[in-house]
Amino acid sequence: MRRLAFPTLWLLAVGVAGYAVYAYSALPIGAAVHPDMRASFEAHRTAVYLHVFGAAVAMLLGPLQFTARVRERWLNLHRWTGRAYLGLGVLVGGLAGLYLARFAYGGLTAQIGFGALAVLWLYSGLRAYLAIRRRSILEHQRWMTRNYAFTFAAVTLRLYVPASFMAGLDFAGAYAVIAWLCWVPNLIVAEVLIQSGRFKPAHGPAAAKGVRP
Ligand code: HEM
Repeated sequence: MRRLAFPTLWLLAVGVAGYAVYAYSALPIGAAVHPDMRASFEAHRTAVYLHVFGAAVAMLLGPLQFTARVRERWLNLHRWTGRAYLGLGVLVGGLAGLYLARFAYGGLTAQIGFGALAVLWLYSGLRAYLAIRRRSILEHQRWMTRNYAFTFAAVTLRLYVPASFMAGLDFAGAYAVIAWLCWVPNLIVAEVLIQSGRFKPAHGPAAAKGVRP
């Protein structure tokens, strides 16, 4: 079961990032969303593109950052992909996401839900970066785990939306709940993993050299 968890996570991440890159490079803007959301997407075109392509970088690179073998064998690759993850993915995708949260479909509940997610995404990315600048690997791993739990909201949201359609729920109401449901349980899972003591101070070249971005 545990062995399947990581490949499943990777597959879902690649699937959602692939869908996002395809839909927002090959189709007209807003073609892939609920018709009620289209006008808002057309009105905030630049932010939507910055958000989707930036966040897709984080989505794709995240699983690579958690692969111990990559960190141990190719520490420089881990550093460079980490810079792209935080700089392009979290910073660009997160700031654009924060801007878009003001106009999110589903009313104030959805706007606050997405806004909180954006702030926490940016904050946890900053904490992970500051931790590694101080060479605190354990703290860096913990903050990156929380950060990827937020990144993964893009996957969980896209599981809940079709599930709400299948359940026949009113879309606006369901979407407002999903704006919270897509990240709160992810954060709880991340905290459980962290508290379980799964993360131990790193060994190997990363620990010896000190992983610096
Ligand atoms: C984790 C922090 C994130 C925040 C705060 C966030 C926020 C938002 C917001 C507010 C919207 C507009 C929703 C609306 O107008 O109702 C949106 C749409 C979108 N986001 Fe994110 N998002 C995040 C992560 C991601 C990630 C990691 C991806 C991965 C590619 C992503 C891909 C998309 C896509 C493709 C859309 C357009 C809607 C769709 O085609 O399904 N987001 N996001």
